[in-house]
Amino acid sequence: MPDINLAQKYLEQTKSLFGNELFVQDEKVDMIMEDGSIGPKSLSDYHLQISDCLKCGLGEKRDKFVFGVGDPNANLLLIGEAPGAQEDLEGEPFVGRAGKLLDKILKAINRSRDKDVYICNVLKCRPPNNRDPLPSEVEQCESYLHMQINLIQPKLIVALGRVAGKTLLGLDVQLKDMRHETHEYKGIPLRVTYHPAALLRNSNFKAAAWDDFKWIREFLDKN
Ligand code: URA
Repeated sequence: MPDINLAQKYLEQTKSLFGNELFVQDEKVDMIMEDGSIGPKSLSDYHLQISDCLKCGLGEKRDKFVFGVGDPNANLLLIGEAPGAQEDLEGEPFVGRAGKLLDKILKAINRSRDKDVYICNVLKCRPPNNRDPLPSEVEQCESYLHMQINLIQPKLIVALGRVAGKTLLGLDVQLKDMRHETHEYKGIPLRVTYHPAALLRNSNFKAAAWDDFKWIREFLDKN
């Protein structure tokens, strides 16, 4: 969300430098960071800016930094927990078997990873042996997710799986206690549903997951 005080500070600085003329680039007003610097202009800009990250130990072990993929103006932002082995190799989230299932689910709600959907993870680098993200890793990486949300401005965020849900909501509860409720993350409505890998492991969850995605489709159609 834009910060009014920072925006005011920016306008005052601009006025003292250039007078009353306001320059707007590419029809987008620059994003002002907390330290007063100008933020990234686009997701691709931001990707370039952070892809050398070595803030936590995962950076040294990664093959590829997995920034995210999809429509930069998406209404729907899907967030998983962290890249797996295949994602680490290819540099794209959800490209393994679970990803193929996710693509089918998106098709069923008339969307795709290029159309009205953006997909990323809480962590941008693969944890060893696909272990859960550590709190310290989440702490280092979460500001990247916040900036992605700022740039995309989705109407709905969907956390895929218990780990993503509990990490984003700061709740240590089971998936069933997070589903069916519209939470909020950074002021944006957030729902939690099954991780597609869980649907591959247990097809009994598929009907409930489909209910969740029908809810998601209706929400997006209405908002
Ligand atoms: N699981 C995740 O949570 N994210 C991926 O990108 C792949 C599998």
